[in-house]
Amino acid sequence: MRTLVLNWNDIKEVLSENPRPEDILSELDSKEAAVALSYVGVENPIDELKMSPRHSVDPLCVALVEIHRKVAGKVFEWKPLACPDVKAASEFTREPVALAKAEFLSDRAGGKSALDMCAGIGADTLALSRFYGEVTAVEKDPARSRAVSINTEMHSEGRVDVVEGNALGVDVSAYDVVHADPSRGRAKDPERTEPPVPEILNAIGDVPYLVEVPHAVDVREGMAVFSHSGGVKAVCVTNVTDGVVATVVDTGFEIEGPPRCPRGGVRDVREVGWILEQDPAVRKSKLSWLLARELGVRPTVSDGVETVMWAPSGEEVPKDHPALVRVVKAWEKGEGPPSVISVGVKIGRDQIRTLRRRYGVYDVVYVTPSGVVPGRLVGGRG
Ligand SMILES: C[S@@+](CC[C@H](N)C(=O)[O-])C[C@H]1O[C@@H](n2cnc3c(N)ncnc32)[C@H](O)[C@@H]1O
Repeated sequence: MRTLVLNWNDIKEVLSENPRPEDILSELDSKEAAVALSYVGVENPIDELKMSPRHSVDPLCVALVEIHRKVAGKVFEWKPLACPDVKAASEFTREPVALAKAEFLSDRAGGKSALDMCAGIGADTLALSRFYGEVTAVEKDPARSRAVSINTEMHSEGRVDVVEGNALGVDVSAYDVVHADPSRGRAKDPERTEPPVPEILNAIGDVPYLVEVPHAVDVREGMAVFSHSGGVKAVCVTNVTDGVVATVVDTGFEIEGPPRCPRGGVRDVREVGWILEQDPAVRKSKLSWLLARELGVRPTVSDGVETVMWAPSGEEVPKDHPALVRVVKAWEKGEGPPSVISVGVKIGRDQIRTLRRRYGVYDVVYVTPSGVVPGRLVGGRG
């Protein structure tokens, strides 16, 4: 694989001082500009490059734009990152999820030093460095391990050592916690990840750990599910909890408890009918009734067609707070629980009208950090 070393310090400087496309085009060469434009929300970086008399557009620029737009879209706090190939850009953990995982480990296991076993381009490594003063990142691919070095040099908060090599050969006993995000590709089975999860767990032993497994794996005790923007983003096995934990990254809610019997915890089953699991992480973890209790809401389903969660207070979406809007449609199928389509989007108040137009047939539920606001706020349907 070809490793392209761009001048990351120049890119970073130009981006931080002059984040306008015209400045980027006048100060960076075409490959660097192709990367930098991906981070400033330019609709079409290639057109922008073509229009600039200083730059030619070669296939490498096009490839770099593709790679970096993917990475930039996953970075919550705006920062340029080195990424050598499209696959690494796809595998890269989005920043809020990486931070939630690192915080989960640090809250439950504490400690000062962390090992990130399959570092990729280092999104999880960077998140770990927010909570751990000493982090070691191991990555077997030379181009990616170079990317981790560049990225951590630019952005890490604590000390990060990067090791190029096989993570299974590292002595994990020297660390307080271990994180591993093995390549999953399309694997449904933890034995088919790279490296295989059982081998990773075997190498880790008793050290507190959080190890990602394929999303297809059924959740049971000792697992944590992280969701973000309406989708399950990480399913992990861990030894820092005995139960099942669902973390709704958007709201910061962490829900823990034993897998429930669907009707347990509900006082009047005739009235409630079914419990609608609002968030995909909670659905996957089967913990929705705990979420409802946590939020002080009544888990409810109308007569099986569509539903919203109901909150006794909170009549308004806070004006200046970007609410997470969850759009749901639920319908009953035979004897089982209702089927649910759920779309989560971070949205400001002004965008609600657009959302209404697009999802007019759905109920809308606002999940804000202070609670759940019912869909009637946006008026009648249709
Ligand atoms: C899913 S990616 C990790 C992505 C990373 N968490 C990030 O946010 O960028 C998995 C990485 O594990 C690396 N890998 C696979 N087997 C490995 C091994 N035995 N030792 C070290 N790294 C390995 C792959 O090269 C790949 O970059």
